[in-house]
Amino acid sequence: MDKKINRIGVLTSGGDSPGMNAAVRAVVRTAVSNGVQCVGIRRGWQGLINSDFVQLDAASVGHIISRGGTILYTARSEDFMSEKGRLKAVSTCKMLGLDGIVAIGGDGTFRGALALSRLGVPVVGVPATIDNDIGCTNYTIGFDTACNTAIECIDKLRDTMQSHERCSVVEVMGRNAGFLALYVGIAVGATAVLVPERELDFQRDVIERIRSARLAGSTHFMIVVAEGVGSAVEIGKQIHEAIGIEPRVTVLGHIQRGGTPNARDRETATRMGYFAVKAFVEGRGNCVIGTRGGDMVETPIEEALQMEKHLQMDRYHVLETVSVTTPYVQPSIEGH
Ligand code: F6P
Repeated sequence: MDKKINRIGVLTSGGDSPGMNAAVRAVVRTAVSNGVQCVGIRRGWQGLINSDFVQLDAASVGHIISRGGTILYTARSEDFMSEKGRLKAVSTCKMLGLDGIVAIGGDGTFRGALALSRLGVPVVGVPATIDNDIGCTNYTIGFDTACNTAIECIDKLRDTMQSHERCSVVEVMGRNAGFLALYVGIAVGATAVLVPERELDFQRDVIERIRSARLAGSTHFMIVVAEGVGSAVEIGKQIHEAIGIEPRVTVLGHIQRGGTPNARDRETATRMGYFAVKAFVEGRGNCVIGTRGGDMVETPIEEALQMEKHLQMDRYHVLETVSVTTPYVQPSIEGH
């Protein structure tokens, strides 16, 4: 890119994640401080097709760093899948005089980014998804907050499961990846965690885990299931059929995507937004920003989309070793 950048667009697309607003704020303020105007495109790629935009300046993104969701709204656009839709998006870019787009989202967003870049509009991607499933980056904005939300919910569930001496089966999000489930499972000391990356052996991975916890004296069990494995309701039924206990099933669902972003997500989003605009200002485009070893890196979009991210199975072994359930001892009430 040789041309000087005068005006860029910023959009959020796909499932929202805590920290997207912090990224939007950083994009706008970095642009402004480099003499670049910034236009907010509402409702993701669909907004680019529909010419749905808002002028943004440094003040208009004040006080959003702590807000979950996205002030720009988000969507998954069917129209953008077609050539006709994408060409309309290109004419919006021309009409608004946009020299590039910062697209904040997950792999669906980056597939859109690649398609648009092939039509001559430079795009820089910022990875934001609670699934943490983007190959070119160690970390995606929103993952840590979503883990903490799930942990808080499961800690609450544990109180009631413990009191009633029950088995809980909790389904967490993550699409086809088990990052959320595994990190959360380790952090709550789950009896078992089921992830799509590991072929399920129901007897070994669920029944034997419950049995050994029971033999160790535990009377309540916490099974965390990644949505990519299948329905927690089904897992609950299978447990009932196999050993007769009646698990209570909780699907955490979209609650995991909401809430105020935590320190890690605000800080990472701010740095990623800053580096995305810097890439444009320094004449680079068509890349995805990422973190590796604590540093910010850029990967060409096409390459980024081909990179796979593997769940670290050593973490799974940590869980299996450490989450050996021990008996719950009721605190003494003597003296009360
Ligand atoms: O990609 C983020 C995510 O929350 C996934 O974990 C989940 O499978 C999906 O989005 C849900 O999408 P929707 O909000 O469209 O139901």
